[in-house]
Amino acid sequence: MDWIHVSLLFHLIGVGMIFTLLFAGPIIEANFRWENDIRMKQHAAKILRSVGLLSPFGALVLILSGIGNMISLHITFGDLFGSAAWLGLKLLFFIVLLGIGMVLSPKTARQRAMILDQMNQINPPEDAGQKMDSLNSKQTLFFLANWILVIVIVLLTLFRP
Ligand code: HEM
Repeated sequence: MDWIHVSLLFHLIGVGMIFTLLFAGPIIEANFRWENDIRMKQHAAKILRSVGLLSPFGALVLILSGIGNMISLHITFGDLFGSAAWLGLKLLFFIVLLGIGMVLSPKTARQRAMILDQMNQINPPEDAGQKMDSLNSKQTLFFLANWILVIVIVLLTLFRP
């Protein structure tokens, strides 16, 4: 086994981590939405956040192994704007994916946790349900965008247009 196989192996492990998140996220989210009991909702939200912790590790494995792939295949930074433009585009989509997974989604998760705390009070604010609905819609959009981005990234890698 040479270096390219080692870095490809780790790269595929990273891809597996990302796909685990793509499937687990919406399944736990469905539990969160269907649950009526606030405490159970809080529990589902907590599980969703812990599963989300996989994303920075997955991202790190992908970046390091991706750089390993580049070195093994003699792809330079300059190639990203020329002969390996498919990879440059892939990296661009990957950065957008990181932005959603590590900035936007966690922010929505924190806001939902705050609203759940408020709903758990004796006198919950009247607009709490409405705010929760709008945050839920945002989260649905993030899940959808993540799926689209990863599929586009995989297609770019396979077909290298
Ligand atoms: C969600 C993110 C990513 C996904 C889903 C993904 C997916 C893949 C897949 C399926 C392969 C083919 C592996 C094989 O041939 O066995 C691959 C190869 C590769 N990836 Fe990624 N990757 C991602 C992120 C990255 C990043 C961040 C980099 C660079 C830093 C990168 C650089 C590469 C390179 C250089 C190859 C080798 C291409 C070749 O064989 O010519 N990837 N990727």
